[in-house]
Amino acid sequence: MTSVTISVNGTSQARQVEPRLLLVHFLRETLGLTGTHVGCDTSQCGACTVLLDGEAVKSCSLFAVQADGRSVTTIEGLAKDGKLHPMQEGFWEKHGLQCGFCTPGMIISACQILERNPNPSEAEIRRGLEGNMCRCTGYANIVKAVQHAAGNMADRGAR
Ligand code: FES
Ligand code: FES
Repeated sequence: MTSVTISVNGTSQARQVEPRLLLVHFLRETLGLTGTHVGCDTSQCGACTVLLDGEAVKSCSLFAVQADGRSVTTIEGLAKDGKLHPMQEGFWEKHGLQCGFCTPGMIISACQILERNPNPSEAEIRRGLEGNMCRCTGYANIVKAVQHAAGNMADRGAR
């Protein structure tokens, strides 16, 4: 076992872990943060996407020990003071989901798109979401959700 201390959604989490434990399993099973999903075993679906020091990463492709001393944000960490993050509101308002399985990873990746480019074109949104697969929506409403969030975040200056 190895000691790790990882800041998860602003709370420091110190645990003993197997060196081979994947970050996604640390989040889901050790911490009980099951909003981060596992949708494949080939690092392709993006359902497991979280922010690691602000960068979107596939948490199934990292070991927990690689996040030692670093900061992770999961879907559970986006809402603040009982209020949804603008990206969550966008998915709500524009029906950017059907079954919802891809949604946590999609929202985290979408947050990074706007972090890097507050006013992305549709093509830039689609390119930014290339690592996230959705088997239900056809992506059209997901793009609208991101555009809605971009508009709201620009209005609020909340970036
Ligand atoms: S679970 Fe599919 S990319 Fe991580
Ligand atoms: S809403 Fe079902 S996989 Fe995206």
